[in-house]
Amino acid sequence: MAQSRMRCMYIFLLVLGALCLYFSMYILTPLKEEPFIFKKEIGNFLQLPEIDCRHNPPFLVLLVTSSHKQVVARMAIRMTWGKEKVVKGRRIKTFFLLGTTPSEDDTRAVAEESQQFHDIIQKDFADVYFNLTLKTLMGLEWIHHFCPQASFVMKTDSDMFINVYYLTELLLKKNRTTRFFTGFLKMNEFPIRKKFNKWFVSKYEYPWDKYPPFCSGTAYVFSSDVASQVYNVSESVPFIKLEDVFVGLCLERLNIKLEELHSKQTFFPEGLRFSPCRFKKIVACHFIKPPALLTYWQVLENTLEEECPAV
Ligand SMILES: *[C@@H]1O[C@H](CO)[C@@H](O)[C@H](O)[C@H]1NC(C)=O
Ligand SMILES: *[C@@H]1O[C@H](CO)[C@@H](O)[C@H](O)[C@H]1NC(C)=O
Ligand SMILES: *[C@@H]1O[C@H](CO)[C@@H](O)[C@H](O)[C@H]1NC(C)=O
Repeated sequence: MAQSRMRCMYIFLLVLGALCLYFSMYILTPLKEEPFIFKKEIGNFLQLPEIDCRHNPPFLVLLVTSSHKQVVARMAIRMTWGKEKVVKGRRIKTFFLLGTTPSEDDTRAVAEESQQFHDIIQKDFADVYFNLTLKTLMGLEWIHHFCPQASFVMKTDSDMFINVYYLTELLLKKNRTTRFFTGFLKMNEFPIRKKFNKWFVSKYEYPWDKYPPFCSGTAYVFSSDVASQVYNVSESVPFIKLEDVFVGLCLERLNIKLEELHSKQTFFPEGLRFSPCRFKKIVACHFIKPPALLTYWQVLENTLEEECPAV
């Protein structure tokens, strides 16, 4: 009798334990961040630039991620590398990518800026650092819908120096037309698992131990067909807020391999000290503030025809 009561008790405890375990798992699950998949149609464009790419299509379109407050940087870019120009007979156009802000003043100012310069591409998503992937995808969507006739696209940032002369020269020399992607190649990068780091990525957001090959988000260049292809697969690739890694995942899915643009380094995501001869032979340099940009650009344009000692 006592033995069977013991057995009952034992079974009861076992069932209770199993139930507890089951419910605790059930309750804890929603605490995890759910892996998130990007959904394409997040709304219509709020601002569109004035360009018809079917007529006189640009050779190169520069897409610059920017935010509402960066008016000074945008003005400096418009006066320097972002100014519409023709290099070796090829047309180059620059546009700025923006999201939305709760500030009504900033919203109005950007709408007016767009009216004046016709170079702003904007959609309805919160303009915050961790929405850079959405911003990049908006740029790719814009190319896909409005400017697939362009030959090449560069995605870059508003604190960069871009030598559009040398970039055009190297792209023409490279002579690639499709499935081309270049920049500062990062072939062996790992997710940062330390919380409080700017680039922290949780195991739920990215469960794998290594990133795919990708190009530094400071500046990368691709043939325009890549825009449509990446945009096309973007919904079926796990979303990650690091936009350059996300594009890398899309390229991996598409089996598009990264390539060097030149045998020497031309992309400088960590910055580079200015000298006229040095900057003549680079494509992109990071950490350039608007006043420096204006000076460096002036010097570059004034010395374009001058010879530099061979290095
Ligand atoms: C990104 O934008 C979307 C759409 O506006 C918004 O729901 C989301 O909260 C934003 N992300 C962050 C990290 O703020
Ligand atoms: C560019 O490549 C094409 C083939 O893809 C070739 O016919 C053409 O001669 C090349 N042009 C130059 C300048 O190398
Ligand atoms: C998009 O993907 C579908 C199937 O996944 C494919 O049929 C289509 O050709 C792709 N479009 C582009 C522009 O790559």
